[in-house]
Amino acid sequence: MSCVRSQANQKEESSPCDSLQKQVPNANPTHTTVIDDAHFSSDSKEALEMVCSSMKVHDDFITKEEEISMFEELKPVLQRLIYERDHWDNAIEGYRETERANWSSQNQAIIDRIRSFAFDEGANHINTVHILDLKKNGFIKPHIDSVRFCGDTIAGISLLSTSVMRLVHEDNKNLMVDVLLRQRSLYVMKGMARYKFTHEILKEEESRFKGEIIPRRRRISVICRNSPNDEKTDGYLQS
Ligand code: OGA
Ligand code: MN
Repeated sequence: MSCVRSQANQKEESSPCDSLQKQVPNANPTHTTVIDDAHFSSDSKEALEMVCSSMKVHDDFITKEEEISMFEELKPVLQRLIYERDHWDNAIEGYRETERANWSSQNQAIIDRIRSFAFDEGANHINTVHILDLKKNGFIKPHIDSVRFCGDTIAGISLLSTSVMRLVHEDNKNLMVDVLLRQRSLYVMKGMARYKFTHEILKEEESRFKGEIIPRRRRISVICRNSPNDEKTDGYLQS
């Protein structure tokens, strides 16, 4: 599943149509953007507006019982894999990952809930759900999910641990926002947050939100994506 991640400093090849794709939708978020202080932190109001207009975090999207039910299904599958480091794409360390298409009916209901909540109606869902198991000291380096393989929406729930996701604008590193992803929360990234900002999961030593240490444990994320749809993606592709 590492094909979804391209590193921040490795822009994807431009397509022949790039000259037609320079217009960036949502480049000037309106001042009516509601800043969600509980989940987003930044020194830059501009960055907060950009990210809060295109990313949402919903605490307790699943119950403790649902978290256990998902973990029980994933545990034996993950146990068969080894934790990897220094992967070829170098975007992540201390992790193991898999994809899952067939779930127990109870857990399928959760996946269906994520999809109907986070995606537009008629979205072209990628059938397999991405499961990423990060060790306590594992982390994900800054990257933007591949625009060739992933569509406009990325929706993930966090099992077993809270963590901090950092978003940094790919063209202006001063535009940086930290996002608090609580255990059992759902995040939904679209638009600017998905296409113009890199995202990363901070390592244990750096895991802080508004100055407060956010302890890291093993964390499993369950990530739903859709397939690219040229109409929606075009305005964000790089030249
Ligand atoms: C990824 C990724 C974030 C997460 O796998 O591309 O960014 O929530 N994962 O685990
Ligand atoms: Mn990613």
